Order: sequence, then structure tokens, then C-alpha cells
Amino acid sequence: MNGDTLTHMAVRIILGIESSCDETSAAIVSIDGDQLRVLSCRTAGQDDLHAEYRGVVPEIASRAHLDRIIPVVRGACAEAGITLKEINGVAAGNRPGLIGSLLVGTSTAKALAWSLDIPFVGVDHVIAHLVAGLLDQPPLQWPAIGLVASGGHTSLFLMRSPMEVQLIGATIDDAAGEAFDKAASILELGYPGGAKLDALAESGDASIVPLPMTRLKGGDFSFSGIKTAFALATRDPRYAGRSADLAASFRKVVVAQITRNLALALEEHAAPSCLVGGGVAANALLRREVASVCTERGVSLRVAELRWCTDNAAMIAGAGALRIAHGECDGWDLVAHPLSELARGDRGARRRTS
Ligand code: KG4
Ligand code: ZN
Repeated sequence: MNGDTLTHMAVRIILGIESSCDETSAAIVSIDGDQLRVLSCRTAGQDDLHAEYRGVVPEIASRAHLDRIIPVVRGACAEAGITLKEINGVAAGNRPGLIGSLLVGTSTAKALAWSLDIPFVGVDHVIAHLVAGLLDQPPLQWPAIGLVASGGHTSLFLMRSPMEVQLIGATIDDAAGEAFDKAASILELGYPGGAKLDALAESGDASIVPLPMTRLKGGDFSFSGIKTAFALATRDPRYAGRSADLAASFRKVVVAQITRNLALALEEHAAPSCLVGGGVAANALLRREVASVCTERGVSLRVAELRWCTDNAAMIAGAGALRIAHGECDGWDLVAHPLSELARGDRGARRRTS
């Protein structure tokens, strides 16, 4: 089937596969115009396999993906009530991520698309985190400022459409999720601890422990200084036993830096809309603060639903569906790649997501 045939089809059904890190996920999404609807999503996590190492072990992750990928695809089809033959295209996150993990999802997607004689597209996982804010949502007015805050990225984008995305700011050291996980580890909350630190912070007083706020020029982010200040504060006898207050202070300065840069970008580009995604977009304070930044400026906000913040295949299927609906298709020679196509080296370059 070629792109011409597809552009004449009204509603298309797309299978998405995500395996960039330690979640094996498959989802079915429909696209009608630019309207994306999630019909199913099945995700198998691996936190139990990696917890003792306090981080993802790449070789363990890729082996676990191999065991889980087919059951997860079957589960997503069953949940959507469709057979493989009803699918019009297959999308896989092919970058960025752990190369062995990416290969499992990318190869599975290619094999399925080839055997079903339907288009295959590779999707940039970072772009997919932005598209998560468009799933089951009303249409958005472009351009938008996109924020991705996850375990691997903290980046701001100018989006002229979901297909035309330009990097305008990125972290120069840790990603926000990585910083949350390290702070949570210092408080012995377990791995990955971002969500646990967030929950603990809800009962803390953020004014007790003073932590410095990092302000970089030009929309970039840095979290390593905050992390060091936090590590020192946890050893300060004045704050002994004040885990909730420490968590609240840490969360406050991380979120303040993100929302400050977001507000500056919205003003600089006079964008009418804002899209927010990534695991850290599940953070309760970040969600509240981003909402007030946008309300104050009359900006329409789409924050990914909680279930689409952390890694999932619905966002991959959504990003792939937008490409396939525009007649795009990748070759069988498309490779998995550890870096995003919108990585720092491409800063400032306007890139289509294809
Ligand atoms: O997007 P994601 O699933 O994976 C990457 O693409 O990196 O993000 C995972 C990250 C982890 O660092 C996790 O601790 C963090 O998102 N996270 C949170 C919260 N929920 C997940 N960080 C802060 N607050 C949360 N509620
Ligand atoms: Zn992610």
C-alpha cells in the first residue's frame, strides 16, 4: 500500500510499539483528520528487574523486551477488538534510547508491517512525548511551545505543527526526571523515585530548606547544582528527619526553573498554545504551575493525561499516525539510533519530524 492510497482513507488504524528503555508497550490509535483516539494500550514494566541496581541495566532490558513484545501486541489488538489485518500502518519508537531495547520494538514493527504489506514509520520518542498531549484532545491552534520533561530529556520546542518542531532549549547536564530520581534515591525512596518524591513533597513545607534556583540564559536548563545543594542539605543536622520538607523544597526549585523557562519561551514566540509531556509532566506541582503560567497568559494548554506521561506506545502510535496520515513512510533500512533527531547538535535547526 502506498501513501496515495492512504491519503484517501478517512479513518486509519495505527499500531504503535514502544521499547526505548524499560517499558514494553503496544497501542492501537485511530486518526481521523488530525484527531487522534486511543483504542487500546498495553504496557509491561520492568521496574522489579532493575530496582536492585537503582537504574536500568541495558542488557536485562532488551532481553525482557524480547519476552514481552508479542504478548503485549496481541493484548493491545484484543483490547481494541481488532485483528492485525485491520491495521493500516505500524509505528515504532526508533530513537532515542537504549540501542538493544530500541532494536526489539523497531524490528518487530518492521516485521509486522512487511508481512501485512502496510507502511512502517519510525518515531522520535521525544516528539512522541509531545504528541501525548494531543491524544483524545480537541484540535490545537499552532504554533505551540512544547515542553518535554522526562528521565532522559528536559527540552523546550517551538512547534509550528506536530510535524514541524524546532529545539529552543535543553538541559546542559541532568534531565529533570534524572534529578528527581537522584534526590529520591538520597532520601531512600527507592527507584525510580520521582513519583514517590512528588507524593512526599505534597505533605512538606517548601519554605523550610532554602535551595538555589538555577537561571541559565537562552532557555537552557541545569539541575546538577540543585542536586548538589540538596545532597548537602540532607546532611545538615537542622533538617534531620524533615524528608517531606526537603522533598518539597527540591520539587519547588526544579519546577520553578522549568516554568520560568516555559513562560519566557511563550512570551518570546507569542505562541497561543502549549503542549507538555514526559514522565515529569506527571508531577503534581508542575501540572499546577504550568496551568497557572498558561492561564495568566491566555495560552491554551494540553498536558498529557497522567497515563500518557510516562513511556507508553499510545504516544508512539499517535506520532506515527500523524506521519502516515500525511502520506509519509520509512524504508526497511531505517535504523535504531541512541540519540534524538532533535538533540543538542541540531539546536536551532528547524526540523520536520520525518
Ligand atoms: O518519560 P519517562 O517515562 O521516560 C523517559 O523517557 O525518560 O520518564 C520517566 C521519569 C523518571 O525519571 C521518573 O522518576 C519521572 O519520570 N517521574 C516523575 C513523576 N512521575 C514520573 N518525576 C517527578 N514527579 C512525578 N510525579
Ligand atoms: Zn520517555
